[in-house]
Amino acid sequence: MCLSSLVIPKNHNIPRDDKTAKKLIYRLLGIACNIIIIFIDSLKRLSMKILFITSSFNGMAQRLWLELDGRDHQVKVHIAEDAPGMIDAVKAFDPDLIIAPFLKKKIPAEIWKNHICLIIHPGIKGDRGASSLDWAILNREDQWGVTILQADEKMDAGPIWASHRFDMRPASKACIYRHEVTQAAIKGLLEAIKKFRQDSFEPEPLDYSKPNVQGHWMRSARQDDYCFSWSDATDEILLKIRAADSQPGVRAAINDRSFYVYGAHREDTLQGNPGEIIAQRNKAICVGTGDGAIWITQLKRDEEGAIKLPAVTAMGKETDDIPPSTLGPFEDHQGSTFRDIYYEQEGAVGFLHFDFYNGAMSTAQCKRLKQAFVQAKEQPVTVIVLMGGRDLWSNGIHLNVIEHAGDPADESWANINAIDDLIEEIILSTDHYIISALQGNAGAGGVPLALAADKVLARKGIVLNPHTRQMGLYGSEYWTYLLPRRIGMEKSKDFTEQCLPWGTAVAKEIGLIDDAFETNAKAFCDRVKESALETARLSWFDKLIASKQFQRRKDEAVKPLDKYRKEELAAMKKNFYDDNWDYHLKRYCFVHKMSTPSHVESVQDKDLYSSRRKIYRKRKWESVHYKE
Ligand code: COA
Repeated sequence: MCLSSLVIPKNHNIPRDDKTAKKLIYRLLGIACNIIIIFIDSLKRLSMKILFITSSFNGMAQRLWLELDGRDHQVKVHIAEDAPGMIDAVKAFDPDLIIAPFLKKKIPAEIWKNHICLIIHPGIKGDRGASSLDWAILNREDQWGVTILQADEKMDAGPIWASHRFDMRPASKACIYRHEVTQAAIKGLLEAIKKFRQDSFEPEPLDYSKPNVQGHWMRSARQDDYCFSWSDATDEILLKIRAADSQPGVRAAINDRSFYVYGAHREDTLQGNPGEIIAQRNKAICVGTGDGAIWITQLKRDEEGAIKLPAVTAMGKETDDIPPSTLGPFEDHQGSTFRDIYYEQEGAVGFLHFDFYNGAMSTAQCKRLKQAFVQAKEQPVTVIVLMGGRDLWSNGIHLNVIEHAGDPADESWANINAIDDLIEEIILSTDHYIISALQGNAGAGGVPLALAADKVLARKGIVLNPHTRQMGLYGSEYWTYLLPRRIGMEKSKDFTEQCLPWGTAVAKEIGLIDDAFETNAKAFCDRVKESALETARLSWFDKLIASKQFQRRKDEAVKPLDKYRKEELAAMKKNFYDDNWDYHLKRYCFVHKMSTPSHVESVQDKDLYSSRRKIYRKRKWESVHYKE
């Protein structure tokens, strides 16, 4: 059907041979074409081609990618290794806009002179340099911020597109980066993109005479900026360690040996001479300071090729004589100390917190957590909430501990069995209602760990990476049971094979999680508590438990839980002992911070936009309960 027949109905009484009528038709056609062109153009402007140039596809880059992808922008990721690579990537993709979420290199002039490149800078207006957040902590700033600026000749001195501030708090650099910086970066970037669409917008040139431009150029922080003496006050030492955690760590002498230290916690009770190791607890060491003591959870030996390890593991034999200071998850304790697993209770609800450094769970940690979970079930509670840590929920088995082990294959085997035991315990807890509350990101086996619960709640905006293929692993943790029962087998396979990050909005829509709310961790925990207490008070709580028990029996009849485990572990055994998917090399590279070509390619050469849509759109109606 032609357009004229739509515009002019056949029975209209305009004389068809009349010249004015023809003119009218052409004018109407012209108007219609213009409307179509404007409509297509506006659609194009809504969805832009955006190129990420980034040093790694880290948590921040993943989060920003998810935000933009969710708004239907086509975002391609280029891992910046050198200038020619960046130039080629821009030529090949021809983006509308370039964004640098986490870039340690300079963008070549050939790029920024011809394209608008927005840099996410973790500093306030006017702040320049590569150690912004480190200095903000070291200088005890009350407030800090994120500025979105345009790449220019001088580093971080380009025109400003957006800037947002936040209150600082006593936490490590990595923790502030994962929370406040990421939130402010998203706000700023979305604002900048809106401005980018307004043809009239002119970014603000950097002008130090303006009162709101309070930052300045700061050189890169060095070890002597972080360094401390054990006789300094605890506050001072905590501040220095936090400023350099998770990278590069502060160099300090412990027992006359040089280490980089991480994971510092204040200790209020124990005391000792400055620099003396007073106690050990769950692989952490307690060291005396000028006015008290602190716990150090991670150490890296100051030598080529060393990796970050639990402190006691890094020190080795010399910790044998250090007295243990035990503090169980259920013991009452007033004041600050280090405790990676602890339990709280309110009414009929038990809250089990497990805050493991980097979300990595070693064999010992999995065993302790399982023990704590069993003990939680023995308390007078009907609902148990698995709280994970504030920063991270879980990233699965502990690759650094495995790398350090005498026999990494054996340690991998022990670790995967220990995490499987924990998950099995959760799945088989049919007398309690279990809730997973993800305050932070979850990766690899950490995702099925969350799905083992009856209800999965997440803080809005966290990132889920439910895959292990990049690490050369088939994966265990009952993923072949837990993932399909929520999203179906087809999507589960795609999820684990495509190695894409997922945000909470889509995760909720497809049923991977039950709900996502609050971007702030404290507000999230408050609502989780409310919801858990409400569940425990349900008049039909007994029926809820009965239906859970019935479902478990049904699932067991369809396929015994043990069968899933055996099948997964058979595949994992090949990964560990036959190294059929290059797990040992991939793990070595991950732990030693070396990017493998396959890792770069997996992000860079992938059409993330289409891959994600392919999975997302696939059989949205698919049955929630997968049956073989
Ligand atoms: N074991 C040991 N360390 C781990 C870890 C693990 N399973 N997962 C993450 N980490 C560490 C990283 O080495 C990094 O350490 P650093 O900052 O102290 O140097 C830190 O946690 C943050 O990880 P990073 O990779 O920078 O975070 P990200 O947000 O960019 O990526 C993941 C998140 C989950 C995709 C990524 O960390 C990953 O692939 N982890 C491995 C997961 C895995 O394969 N586990 C084994 C199978 S169960």
